[in-house]
Amino acid sequence: MESTEVNLSNEIGLDAQTIVTGRGCVIGQSGSGKSFLIGVVAEELAKSNMPFCVVDTEGEYSSLKSSFNAIIIGGSNKDAGLDVDYTKLFQASIENSIPVVLDLSDTSDKQGVVYDAMDALFSLESSLRRPYLVIIEEADKFVPQVVSKRTNPIEEIAFRGRKRGLGLFIATQRPANISKNVLAQCSYGFIGRLTIDNDVNAIRILFSSRKALTEVTTLKVGEFIPFGMDYHERFKVKGRVTKAMGSTPLVSAPRQSSAKINSIIKSLSGNAPQVKPITSRETRELKIQSLQRLFSEDDAKEFAERMKRKQFGVFGKSVENVDTVSLQYAPLELVSMRFPTNRRNEYLEYYALLSEKGRLVKFTDRTKFFDYVAEKEGEQRNFLAYNIYTPSLSKVPFKLEDSSVAKADLVSKGLGKKRIQKLVTKFFPSAVIIDTSRVYLPFYRIVLRANNKIRVFTVNAVDGRTFELS
Ligand SMILES: Nc1ncnc2c1ncn2[C@@H]1O[C@H](COP(=O)(O)OP(=O)(O)O)[C@@H](O)[C@H]1O
Ligand SMILES: [Mg+2]
Repeated sequence: MESTEVNLSNEIGLDAQTIVTGRGCVIGQSGSGKSFLIGVVAEELAKSNMPFCVVDTEGEYSSLKSSFNAIIIGGSNKDAGLDVDYTKLFQASIENSIPVVLDLSDTSDKQGVVYDAMDALFSLESSLRRPYLVIIEEADKFVPQVVSKRTNPIEEIAFRGRKRGLGLFIATQRPANISKNVLAQCSYGFIGRLTIDNDVNAIRILFSSRKALTEVTTLKVGEFIPFGMDYHERFKVKGRVTKAMGSTPLVSAPRQSSAKINSIIKSLSGNAPQVKPITSRETRELKIQSLQRLFSEDDAKEFAERMKRKQFGVFGKSVENVDTVSLQYAPLELVSMRFPTNRRNEYLEYYALLSEKGRLVKFTDRTKFFDYVAEKEGEQRNFLAYNIYTPSLSKVPFKLEDSSVAKADLVSKGLGKKRIQKLVTKFFPSAVIIDTSRVYLPFYRIVLRANNKIRVFTVNAVDGRTFELS
């Protein structure tokens, strides 16, 4: 996808793609200009044809409809009610790059609606995996600091959304009340005027410069101090395209035709034939993410031919036959972690892979090769591929691909969450886990047979390493 910029002022231009799949926030007391800033972000994304959904608690974003053909769910300008089929809605939004406004101004069960919608989006993106940004106004209402029993779908998005293409941008006037875990996920953001001590304290985890902390109390409406980007000074958010509600649009952005939007809206409100939502659960094949194969099945077959025992040395007649060559997958846990540095607001983000036997998988090259069996304590850092963390640079150090596999080809269940936490504590005492996800190592299982005797080999499909299992 081409890279386009989201411009908030002359000084601040952010990569749209990074915003759409990243984690960011805007914090400031009531009236500081958060919604205005979100409005500019939304307009810039809509102009670049980047899809997103705004969770709108006050009914402030319906102007996006006239200027950018957004679909409005709920509220007084609704295209469809809050009882819409959210899977269908988000599928249409993602596939056609249509902004969605979820207007909650008329409902008392704001949490219930948002959780339902976000659950649907999360499962949908588990199979679609396309870039999509969720913007949440008054996020402290939906991800409060108090712990609840239910898994919070917004926390899910914050922690496990990235690999599904889901980004998050949250707004709050009470940073002291929002889940610290979610706040700590934000790698960039904007701090507006704040005067309550508790709240000023709460943003210390985002930036620690004293100067900035005192400066936030002096900011004017529309002024923000950014963090997580090159520019560190206060700036004023530029004017919006769509000013107040119902004003005339000034730009003609790339957007879907009204006819198309109308037909989508029609299909959302019940009478149209039901499109079956795409979910991986319904298909027999499992969708997994696996390390990219560099060795093909043919390579493995060739290897098998070469390994056959011969009667009289290399030119003799084979006494073994190739019985089977099958592609299988071993589970690995991809764990991303933060390590503190001696500067308070700087940290390093590292990835490690754990095998299902609880071993660290060693990377012997930054990109492709790694030693699936290596384990040696005390040399942990060598076992990691690392990135210095910046918002746009948190890439996994090897290529992953989507694969469809039969359940029978997965060789074990993998590690549970508790076991992963234990191993990380053991290997990396100072690390904080920020995300874990399952990826699979593809390998070929080769069986050679001579009469009743079999020999089994494995060929690692990523680095070509072979083992004889006896
Ligand atoms: N950058 C700006 N330029 C012009 N007016 C602004 C700007 N930021 C905020 N405003 C105005 O200030 C008022 C409060 O802003 P708003 O975004 O609603 O604050 P918040 O969402 O933080 O409560 C609104 O009337 C808005 O139009
Ligand atoms: Mg607001």
